[in-house]
Amino acid sequence: MTGNVFDPNYGNPAIPESAANPGDEIVQPANAAPLTDVVELRGIEQVYGQGDKAQVVFRNFSLSIPDIPDRGQFCTIMGPSGCGKSTILRYISGLQNPTAGEILFKGKPRDPQKSVPMVFQQYSSFEWKSVLHNVTLPLELQGVGRREAEDQAMEMLKVVGLEAHAGKFAKYPNLSGGQLQRVAIARSLVVHPSILLMDEPFGALDVKTRREMQDFLRTIFEAQEDMTVILVTHSESEAVFLSDKVTVLNANPAMIVADIPIHLPAVRDDAARIAPEFEHYVAQVRKALS
Ligand SMILES: Nc1ncnc2c1ncn2[C@@H]1O[C@H](COP(=O)(O)OP(=O)(O)OP(=O)(O)O)[C@@H](O)[C@H]1O
Ligand SMILES: [Mg+2]
Repeated sequence: MTGNVFDPNYGNPAIPESAANPGDEIVQPANAAPLTDVVELRGIEQVYGQGDKAQVVFRNFSLSIPDIPDRGQFCTIMGPSGCGKSTILRYISGLQNPTAGEILFKGKPRDPQKSVPMVFQQYSSFEWKSVLHNVTLPLELQGVGRREAEDQAMEMLKVVGLEAHAGKFAKYPNLSGGQLQRVAIARSLVVHPSILLMDEPFGALDVKTRREMQDFLRTIFEAQEDMTVILVTHSESEAVFLSDKVTVLNANPAMIVADIPIHLPAVRDDAARIAPEFEHYVAQVRKALS
């Protein structure tokens, strides 16, 4: 992948008409193999403590993120604080295992060779490394030689508009908050993951930078060929702007209260934010959260 996402011609892949609304039901030929979910949480239990003091976060909880072939999907999970959203992302990334239950990737258990990158709210770059070497790191861990890793990382830095900052230390204030989140996104995308996890990635940014990062993230997503993004956010408008589907949970124990497909145009811009449907979806999400 080459080019810069801020180029207006970048990242506008032709989307097959059949996939224009990714939340729509996918009609398959009768003889096609059934689609397996990109990721499925099945029969999850998560209990902290014991007896009267036990806190049940999940009880027989299941969640599936369907495969949208050759396109991927942008899914957002919302719900009250403490309901288990970050825990779900930690299960998928492999940072945590549930008390019981299964996490399946295309119907199979985790492949230890494949990492599932996560972008956190806190800036998570290695401050003592340059921007470039933050992005080469996952490639080097995969055994890619240094020179090749630097070339690939530089390409990715161009995509996120940071090539001019490649030699700087990846820390604040050398880089702004938005730039640091771009480093984290570049570090995640450089291994071309099939799933990208994001836990309130723009929560620490000011309103203007946050909007710019939303535009940027949606454009980046559109430019990927087949990537599923699973985002957690507390912002209803952010969820609607970015997503193909918003899943709303309640708490204690968590249950899915709504699964809301968002049928906005695949390529989104400021016009999407003022479309009447946009406010309609925001109201729908807000109602599910209340
Ligand atoms: N190690 C632990 N020991 C006890 N309780 C825990 C532990 N880890 C998580 N929890 C509890 O699990 C619940 C779910 O936590 P989680 O971080 O997933 O919530 P969340 O939905 O991401 O909340 P927020 O929106 O505030 O980030 C919380 O009530 C939390 O206190
Ligand atoms: Mg959380």
